[in-house]
Amino acid sequence: MPTNKAAYLITNGQPLEVKEAPYTSPSPSQIVIKSHAVAINPVDWATQAMGHIIFPWIKLPTVIGSDVAGEVVELGTGVQKFNIGDRIVGQCLAFLHNNAAEGAFQEYVVLEESVTCKIPDSLSYENAAVLPLGLSTASCGLFQKDFLALDFPTLEPKPNGKWLLIWGGSTSVGCNAVQLATLAGYSVVSTSSPKNFELVKKLGAREVFDHNSPTAVEDIVKFLEGKEIVGAFAIGGPKTERNGFGAGENCLEIVKRSEGVKFVAMAMHGPAELAPEGVKAAFVTGGEFKSNEVGRMIYGEFLPKALAEGKYVCAPEALVVGKGLEKIEEAFAVQKKGVSAKKIVVSL
Ligand SMILES: NC(=O)c1ccc[n+]([C@@H]2O[C@H](COP(=O)([O-])OP(=O)(O)OC[C@H]3O[C@@H](n4cnc5c(N)ncnc54)[C@H](OP(=O)(O)O)[C@@H]3O)[C@@H](O)[C@H]2O)c1
Repeated sequence: MPTNKAAYLITNGQPLEVKEAPYTSPSPSQIVIKSHAVAINPVDWATQAMGHIIFPWIKLPTVIGSDVAGEVVELGTGVQKFNIGDRIVGQCLAFLHNNAAEGAFQEYVVLEESVTCKIPDSLSYENAAVLPLGLSTASCGLFQKDFLALDFPTLEPKPNGKWLLIWGGSTSVGCNAVQLATLAGYSVVSTSSPKNFELVKKLGAREVFDHNSPTAVEDIVKFLEGKEIVGAFAIGGPKTERNGFGAGENCLEIVKRSEGVKFVAMAMHGPAELAPEGVKAAFVTGGEFKSNEVGRMIYGEFLPKALAEGKYVCAPEALVVGKGLEKIEEAFAVQKKGVSAKKIVVSL
């Protein structure tokens, strides 16, 4: 059995500690991979700081981290999709299962087969690792029945004439949401900083507005006049003195004043409670993703083909800060300072 090493979260508010960890064999529906790259998400350092408040069920010490890419080394008895040696990307479920063996920040990671897929040889582990949490959050908000409930994406999309607002198209969640909604046939209007307009348009958005402009809400309401919307997806963007409102508040206002479905999927906690009369909103959670029809569609059907045929871009771009579990703290610090259309990645 291989020896394992992990970056442990031992106490909230303290740096991760790299030390020996047990190697855990998979249950029938799981695989074990040798990790080659991990990506950082805001929830990782938020959990490090105050996991006892936001995820009170998580027992310490544990191993956190959601996004991993690597090579399959062991298969559960029920696993059909993979062979030993396959190169894969997958979403770690340590938060959901309260299980350190399923955290990304270690050398050997246990993953559920259902939220894992093969990647083409042409795709590096570092680039693939940017996908999982951004992809699943985007998919849950766009396609789950209790959220925007949009048509599923295909590799040969036919435009359906309906519009979707995605506030925060250059965020990690947004880069996935823009691509998925476009591949599902919707016309996307989105927001980013002007320097990222080109990126968001390349991912599929028909029009992009500056989310820091004081006139962003008015500009988007005007743009949507005479168009039918299927709702909005609010991602990122706290209230600032400059823009006055955050993503959630802005989307609620735009949806209220536009024609079509009056629903906002929210990637952040809080603003959903501010929904005005006639508008519904809900905070996106991906708890059921690993076993519902959306997770099956994304990881079982859509993503492997889309990656193999080059029809899905791993975005935002990976910014690799270094190699080794010891670099994860540094990676947290880089992301905390603020990123623009970049996913912070550590090679292992
Ligand atoms: N519910 C869930 O399960 C879940 C899962 C993952 C993430 N989230 C949440 O979703 C949000 C985005 O996470 P992420 O990892 O995708 O973020 P991220 O990529 O780290 O976000 C960085 C981006 O924020 C953008 N930004 C700056 N000002 C903004 C504004 N006013 N409105 C919208 N975006 C703005 C920047 O775009 P420019 O540089 O172009 O300005 C930058 O590209 C966070 O609040 C996170 O906590 C929720």
